[in-house]
Amino acid sequence: MRFLVTGATGLLGPYLLEEAGRVGKAVGIARTNSACNSDLTSPEAVIRLVDELRPDIVLHAAAMTNVDRCEDDPIAADRANAMATQNLAMALPPQARLVYISTDQVYPDRSGLKREGEESPVNAYGRSKLAGERAALGRSNTLILRCNMFGPSRTPGRHSFSDWIIDGLRRGDPMTLFTDVLFSPLQFSTLAALTLECVARGIHGTFNMGARNGASKRDFAVMIARHLGLSLAHARDGLSTAVAMRAPRPLDLRMDVSRLEAALGRPMPTLQEEVYRL
Ligand SMILES: NC(=O)c1ccc[n+]([C@@H]2O[C@H](COP(=O)([O-])OP(=O)(O)OC[C@H]3O[C@@H](n4cnc5c(N)ncnc54)[C@H](OP(=O)(O)O)[C@@H]3O)[C@@H](O)[C@H]2O)c1
Repeated sequence: MRFLVTGATGLLGPYLLEEAGRVGKAVGIARTNSACNSDLTSPEAVIRLVDELRPDIVLHAAAMTNVDRCEDDPIAADRANAMATQNLAMALPPQARLVYISTDQVYPDRSGLKREGEESPVNAYGRSKLAGERAALGRSNTLILRCNMFGPSRTPGRHSFSDWIIDGLRRGDPMTLFTDVLFSPLQFSTLAALTLECVARGIHGTFNMGARNGASKRDFAVMIARHLGLSLAHARDGLSTAVAMRAPRPLDLRMDVSRLEAALGRPMPTLQEEVYRL
């Protein structure tokens, strides 16, 4: 089984590479600093890549992920998130499988758990990722996984949200923790293992892949602090709406994961369980 893992130098990519490497031959790509550099926005480069590597399965995690930068340059966001996916979808032979790592930001800004089918992104990042999903779904056996994630970054210079919390609390940096933003992320390692399990079991379609409950970003930070014995003395509660951000963002990013739980036949982990595994 040959895997192509895109976004190999990001946060999730190294975990997908490791997990895919357990069951097959896995090659990771990015534009720079990877085993095989390629720019997925170029249709010719993608055709060359597919000809050279002949992947059976593509785990497509490459993306332009900076939400504010996407808002500032929606054309670049569309190229990186939609066109790159279209290029892969077109270049792959029919028997190859495409797994598209998507986001909870395809959903609207309403409170409560979001289910597959109620997409309505509020920012350019979410719109470009949803366009990427639609490009990927042009193929019959595509798997779309909508996620949010945390865990230790394996890429120098790239920090996850939990890295930011842990490093900041260890240094005693003043921190504002948002009480009004809710999410339901999984650890990178859990996401990677579940992704490979879905592939092995031939699951296809569109799924929310997250913790079965959620928490505010503030409560998430408190869970981490308690688990690792870190002081919250320099952290204070705050509201995201009090901070000027260029892109609009949904306040409640929690997802209903019952569709994936039914497909896998077991519950997703809780956020607390995921934090305990840090
Ligand atoms: N991090 C999160 O909290 C989060 C939450 C929800 C969903 N997601 C989704 O999860 C996936 C992985 O996210 P991440 O945080 O690991 O991403 P990331 O850290 O921002 O890394 C992005 C990766 O994509 C590569 N890349 C970007 N543009 C490319 C292009 N045109 N051609 C080839 N490679 C390109 C980057 O390398 P180069 O820049 O060198 O090309 C890098 O390896 C993404 O699809 C993202 O939308 C992430």
